[in-house]
Amino acid sequence: MGNTVVVGAQWGDEGKAKITDLLAIDADIIIRYQGGCNAGHTVVANNKTFKFHLIPSGILYKNKTCIISAGTVIYPEALKKEIAGLLAENINLDGLKIHPLASITMPWHIDIDGISEDKTAKTKIGTTKKGIGPTYSDKIGRYGIKVEDLYDKEALNSKLDNILPLKNKILKEVYGLKEYSKNDILNLCNEYAEIFRPYVFWNWQEALTTALQDNKKILFEGAQGVMLDIDWGTYPFVTSSNPIAGGAATGSGLGINAIKEAVGIMKAYVTRVGEGPFISELENDIGKKIQTIGAEFGVTTGRPRRCGWFDAVIAKYAVLVSGLTSIALTKADVFDTFDEIKICIAYKDKRNGKIYNHYPTNVYMHKYLEPIYESHKGWKEDISKCTKYDELPLNAKKYLTRLEELIGIKISIISVGPNREQTIILKNPMKI
Ligand code: GDP
Ligand code: IMO
Ligand code: MG
Repeated sequence: MGNTVVVGAQWGDEGKAKITDLLAIDADIIIRYQGGCNAGHTVVANNKTFKFHLIPSGILYKNKTCIISAGTVIYPEALKKEIAGLLAENINLDGLKIHPLASITMPWHIDIDGISEDKTAKTKIGTTKKGIGPTYSDKIGRYGIKVEDLYDKEALNSKLDNILPLKNKILKEVYGLKEYSKNDILNLCNEYAEIFRPYVFWNWQEALTTALQDNKKILFEGAQGVMLDIDWGTYPFVTSSNPIAGGAATGSGLGINAIKEAVGIMKAYVTRVGEGPFISELENDIGKKIQTIGAEFGVTTGRPRRCGWFDAVIAKYAVLVSGLTSIALTKADVFDTFDEIKICIAYKDKRNGKIYNHYPTNVYMHKYLEPIYESHKGWKEDISKCTKYDELPLNAKKYLTRLEELIGIKISIISVGPNREQTIILKNPMKI
């Protein structure tokens, strides 16, 4: 079977899209299982750079089914823009399917996300302002609108009658924002219905039942990362969905037995966009150097990404809470000119010297923790052209072996540059 889930094992932007695109060649179906257009996924293929937000990173191949599944939230305007951009590049979207149970980000979700972050928030999260938190809150609160509602006037009317008076009250009285008329929202929903219409996956039950019976290969693409997971991340500095591998089971509706391998994508260092604790962060010239060489700027918001040394404590944590079976290590090439490379192996409490070998989940005490580092000699060579493990310099091999020892699982893929070709595949999870 080899069905694989690609999971971000840090705070996002680990290179999930590059690995998804790479593995997608052996997949029949690629499923984005959570998140929304807060994601920014970069694929470099055929000398072109593609930036995906909602559409699965397997879309560049012909004859693959690419599903934006029920666990996602979709801002229709963002989807429209993304579709238009891909069509302008002559990318065939025949395989694109949007699940009727995916949730829709409505205009009030964007309003509320924007203003909560700017004005009302005491604890600023630094969200992407794409309405993610408010959309998922409404889904869980049972105030959500799903794709299928757009095609059922009765359902939509009944939901809006329930939702709008409350939303308008909140918009006006809590946030001092403008209200929405039901008529305007119904017109907007008609526009949304047209955006989705060619792609709605109405026959998902028949299609996926047959696909499973025929042993079609499925690749699940995560967005964000384990440390941004709503249940397992650095709460409340997280996103509002489940990027962990388990999220693929719920978000796709295919259950745990449809997934065999869980590949954790880890950068050779760590980055984070937005607020929240980051124990191995480097607020100095080394951090700046990583940011510059690694081009660490957000795909969705353009914000600079905070950078720090690889953190083996969170890597071990990601293995546990996501059931990772192997690692795809990306961006080791960023260290090509470094004399010294550090790995955070534990944390120390500055107040009492207590050592933490496992991740302490109370993020409010992270300010008292400092990283304990292990130092490694750099390889001082260009590894971006290596396509075989044996071509890597000895110090790079030593560093990779040490990472495996610390994390406790094997590296299956080493990425040494943004292009498809700049990859060393040690064991292809889709072929296990
Ligand atoms: P994602 O959100 O996890 O898909 O990652 P992003 O696309 O947000 O950020 C990863 C960035 O690193 C993109 O610009 C990729 O093109 C780039 N990238 C991926 N793998 C490598 C690698 O091994 N080396 C280098 N130098 N860049 C990489
Ligand atoms: P990909 O899929 C990195 C971060 C935001 C913020 C927090 C909550 O490209 O790895 P949200 O808008 O989701 O409510 O913001 O999560 N965040 C990401 N950081 N990569 C992403 O996606 C992210 N999506 C959200 O910066 O800290
Ligand atoms: Mg990204």
